[in-house]
Amino acid sequence: MLTWVGKRPIRHIVAFPAQHVESFDPSGDASTRGGDLWRDWPTGYPRGGLLFHGDNKEVLAHLLANGFRGKVDLIYIDPPFDSGADYVRKVTLRGPKGTAKLDGEAYTLGEQIQYTDIWANDNYLQFMYERLLLLKELLASNGTLWIHLDEGRSHSIKMILDEVFGTEHFINEIIWKRQTAHSDVGQGARHLGRVHDTLFVYAKGDDFVWHQIFTPYSADYVDSFYRFTDEGSERRYRLSDLTAPGGSSKGNPYYEFLGVTRYWRFTKSRMEEMHRQGRIVQTSPGTVPAQKRYLDEMPGVPLQSLWDDIRPVQSQADEREEFPTQKPEALLDRIIRLCSPQDGIVLDCFVGSGTTAAGAQKLGRRWIACDINKGAIQTTSTRLQTIINEQIGQARTPNQPGLAGVDPGHAAPEPAQLSLAIYRVNDYDLAIQQVEAVNLACEHLGVERTRTDRYFDGTLGKRLVKIVPFNHPLTPLDLDELKREIEARPTEDRSVVLVCLGKDPGADAWIADWNRLRTGKNAINCIEVIELRTDAKYGKFFKHEPARARVKARRDKKMIVVEITDFISPSILERLEQQSGLLRPKIDDWRAMVDCVLIDTDHDGRVFNIAVSDIPGRKTDLVVGRYELPADNVGSTVAIKVIDMLGEEVLATLQP
Ligand SMILES: C[S@@+](CC[C@H](N)C(=O)[O-])C[C@H]1O[C@@H](n2cnc3c(N)ncnc32)[C@H](O)[C@@H]1O
Repeated sequence: MLTWVGKRPIRHIVAFPAQHVESFDPSGDASTRGGDLWRDWPTGYPRGGLLFHGDNKEVLAHLLANGFRGKVDLIYIDPPFDSGADYVRKVTLRGPKGTAKLDGEAYTLGEQIQYTDIWANDNYLQFMYERLLLLKELLASNGTLWIHLDEGRSHSIKMILDEVFGTEHFINEIIWKRQTAHSDVGQGARHLGRVHDTLFVYAKGDDFVWHQIFTPYSADYVDSFYRFTDEGSERRYRLSDLTAPGGSSKGNPYYEFLGVTRYWRFTKSRMEEMHRQGRIVQTSPGTVPAQKRYLDEMPGVPLQSLWDDIRPVQSQADEREEFPTQKPEALLDRIIRLCSPQDGIVLDCFVGSGTTAAGAQKLGRRWIACDINKGAIQTTSTRLQTIINEQIGQARTPNQPGLAGVDPGHAAPEPAQLSLAIYRVNDYDLAIQQVEAVNLACEHLGVERTRTDRYFDGTLGKRLVKIVPFNHPLTPLDLDELKREIEARPTEDRSVVLVCLGKDPGADAWIADWNRLRTGKNAINCIEVIELRTDAKYGKFFKHEPARARVKARRDKKMIVVEITDFISPSILERLEQQSGLLRPKIDDWRAMVDCVLIDTDHDGRVFNIAVSDIPGRKTDLVVGRYELPADNVGSTVAIKVIDMLGEEVLATLQP
């Protein structure tokens, strides 16, 4: 059993409520496949895809407490690999070249960190251990867990998997060859090209869902084994032995057939029938007859554990989302077909750009997805909206080929749902992304970053620094977490500086109580707070200028006309200025800054119900900007969400 400093099982976990923030249900509640499909679905959730924004530990705890225990048939996760890197995506403006220009030049917005994958050894193991323990509880008794890793950490994670699931429930190690060659030899690499990832498959119990997949025979194999061709039909076949191994000891029949007496595999009447059908060949009188086996009747080669037939996402591929570490849909298509029942629930709590949800949606499965990163949630949401819209379009024009795309031989099953709902657990919503906010705050305060500590962000002089997520004030819950963290580090004696934007009233009393016991010059782990909104010394930090949109809406009988006439994002302009030096950037068309527009024509002030989603398919296309929508409910509030290329959202609500 693998052990590490601070290894602890989950003794206690708080299941926070989830807030329903957005819905996409373009064809109404009836848009789910009927029958018994939703019988096991907890009644507290809409029947459709569920996308959770939050830390997956909290999201998994929430799902366990709200009816999903033992309900998930297939889990695929592609967690951070402890690669020691920040993963960035390249952000560009929208539109054809020249939409945004500076002296005729188009330019990009540089890179945006999507997630950080830098850990201290033990923290990574503890992080994975806790998630795997919770995931196992969600898994159905016949379910499987697939985990995607690389060679760096796979050995230690396998030991944790053995502990959590049991060695007897290990099914496969799969090597996925993700690229043909890695040419870092030119840079002096002294190792072999690292071209594969490793996937492990574990089952929860002994009896698990498994639909064998067959792959086509190679040309070499066909040439050497299927050497004969039927005249006329050109069907290829091979000859196989009709005599029975084991003779009489296996109870095989013994008789004469076409002049040859032997122990045969089949009864005499069956042999005569096959002969009449032309499926038995005797090359010359007296030779042993053989059976014809046609290539087109063979299922193919049973899939093996080395996968070299799935290419990574290509730069020009339709599925490409500009998300670092995006996995190909073909990979998920295969996994889902192998291990998920037709009416199954597929879960991915590190969903990134939404590949697992996309695969499940296309294969008619129900799905639950989660990510901590707002950019990932936005990408997954828009990706799934596009797929659902396509599925609705295809349903209107029957006789289209299957949607699966990756496997043209199989038509896609009917979608399980044509809707999705977004929930937030613990309000991780930020105007700017948390990783960026932490970077800015550390720079502003002069904090020295300790990138290997999962909990503390750095040090300020001798003191440890923790930046409390800026999306909520410092609360006693954050302080309890700090206490648990300090207790798990018995040799830590440094004081702690907590940096937050604001404080919950309960926090002051908690800190006063904690510090009361820690006085004198040898006091350890005293807590200080820097409140960025009000702190005289550091308070200038909080000057994020939000994006703004000019939006008009008017009612024209039963229609509403929404028009966006301008949009400005100070963050985008600032980035452009950084790229272009002294010259001021000029964007002729505001739509270059906008990634998508979502409209709720009857906003209830709580959940944003997406009635229209304008998500241009290609980066060179722009949003429309003017929308005419049916809206029966006179007096309703119209909400318009404009999301820019950095993921910042502007919400306008109007009563036309
Ligand atoms: C390797 S990427 C997944 C890529 C994905 N398979 C795809 O095809 O796009 C890992 C994802 O895990 C997310 N993540 C990391 N820590 C998390 C946490 N504690 N809770 C939820 N998501 C987390 C990151 O934000 C990132 O999007």
